[in-house]
Amino acid sequence: PLAATGELVTRAATERTAVAAFNIITLEHIEAVVAGAESVAAPVILQVSENAVKFRCGRLLPLARAATAAAEQASVPVALHLDHVQSDGLLRQAPDAGFSSVMYDASRLPYAENLTATRSAVQWTHDQGLWIEAELGEVGGKNGRPPLDAHAPTARTDPAEARAFLADSGVDALAVAIGSVHAMTTRTAALDHDLLKRLIAALDAPLVLHGSSGLPDTELTAAVTGGITKVNFGTALNLAMTGAIRDFLTAHPDAVDSRAYLTVAREAMTEAVARIMRVVRAR
Ligand code: G3H
Ligand code: ZN
Repeated sequence: PLAATGELVTRAATERTAVAAFNIITLEHIEAVVAGAESVAAPVILQVSENAVKFRCGRLLPLARAATAAAEQASVPVALHLDHVQSDGLLRQAPDAGFSSVMYDASRLPYAENLTATRSAVQWTHDQGLWIEAELGEVGGKNGRPPLDAHAPTARTDPAEARAFLADSGVDALAVAIGSVHAMTTRTAALDHDLLKRLIAALDAPLVLHGSSGLPDTELTAAVTGGITKVNFGTALNLAMTGAIRDFLTAHPDAVDSRAYLTVAREAMTEAVARIMRVVRAR
């Protein structure tokens, strides 16, 4: 059934585990995430990023409608989340498109401007009954920007600043920069566990990990054990999908029917989702 992100995150926190969130781009992503979650019998979040909307010719509704239908028919709770929103126009489409939550991303701005922009997003989303996540510090590697600067300690989330940001903005959850980086194709990132400890001690809100595809299993487990309650994955599914299609077309250079390679792509993504969810849930 269709669920609300806030409820899934709250339940995960109560159970001292985390809910996995996957970025979707195609119908195959949606089907794979739902099938993977059903195979491990755990709730899941389907996320649509502003970049994915741009890829879908600027339209949110077609993908959102498909995700809503898939969620309604799923045997596990599935929530819809609008991810890395920068445009107010897109933000305002969230409630009618079936989203129970948004991540409003003004993390590129200096602190005061991030706070002002986030605060007005909070007012609007809360009026609509939506759950809202924001980001402080910056998880690098967005939009093809070089990821390495995110390893710089300066880009990390400062606990005292984060405490003030939560109180002043009113957001429901915070994406923290603790060493993960977006769009990594190797699982070699290392988290700053001491910083996570200090953030957990200082903050009274669910914390969200972005760029989780770049983390080895041990780091994912440590993040969840350490108190992260929402874990975002995108690139892991693209690696599975593209790898499966590449292998299939290499082995079958004369293939024509798109269903042939989309079938193996969907299977590979389903397996990736199930594998990731087992790691995220097992703590
Ligand atoms: O918000 C989405 C996630 O942060 C995805 O990051 O593609 O590096 O797994 P990733
Ligand atoms: Zn992200």
